[in-house]
Amino acid sequence: MINYEDLLELVKKRRSIRRFKPDSLPDELVDKIIEAARWAPSGANSQPWQFVIVRDKETREKIHGFIAEMGELNRKVELLRPPELRHHGAHAPAGGQPGYMNAPVFIIACGDPRGSMAYPMATSLTRAREHLISGMANAFLQMHLAVTALGLASQWISATAHVLTQTRIKAMLGIPASLDIYDTMAVGYPAGQPRPRLVREREEITHREKFDVSKHMTDEQHRQFIIRIIGGDAARG
Ligand SMILES: Cc1cc2nc3c(=O)[nH]c(=O)nc-3n(C[C@H](O)[C@H](O)[C@H](O)COP(=O)(O)O)c2cc1C
Repeated sequence: MINYEDLLELVKKRRSIRRFKPDSLPDELVDKIIEAARWAPSGANSQPWQFVIVRDKETREKIHGFIAEMGELNRKVELLRPPELRHHGAHAPAGGQPGYMNAPVFIIACGDPRGSMAYPMATSLTRAREHLISGMANAFLQMHLAVTALGLASQWISATAHVLTQTRIKAMLGIPASLDIYDTMAVGYPAGQPRPRLVREREEITHREKFDVSKHMTDEQHRQFIIRIIGGDAARG
């Protein structure tokens, strides 16, 4: 059993690393990442996950092509926001290669909504989607932690969940249409380290016995907080 200090060190060390060396990743390491996902908690132990490992360069390029097509649209939408709230992706030159294209492996995490049959009826009728997402998020985070423990780098590519993008990916890879692409992990060897990120203080987020409304940000404070995080970490280190 690892002790708390080691656990905290791993949790703090885990970062999104968006720059990869193109070096190939051995199967054993990919297996270790998926092994960590296998033990994740899920609603009623439904274990709704399936993982598709993509190494083929042409396939990864096609996936990027699908994402880039939607990215054009997203960029236009983003430009309608006030400049201080614009996601940095909106400033990226159209057609620029994202760092994840160097990652030798994509792991596409798919969720099976049929797992909801395992939930109590009231839950499966009202909260099936939330439970599916929570279970997938647990598995995905455990994968990212395993990546950190192995000294590798990983990035979420959540754009693969877009309805058009995921439908195209599913058709291309023979993934059953009824599965839900939750997210994709780009994984490989790190080619750099991200900048430090803003992490809220423990006292700001902790309430004892009752909610301390003096800690509840006003809308303006919250807006300023968002501007700070967009300007910092979300600049995609
Ligand atoms: C649900 C979710 C979706 C995310 N989607 C993306 C993504 O599409 N692209 C990306 O580069 N990072 C993505 N991230 C990573 C976050 O931007 C990142 O975790 C956050 O900024 C904190 O930085 P850190 O991971 O380095 O600690 C996502 C993270 C989560 C939890």
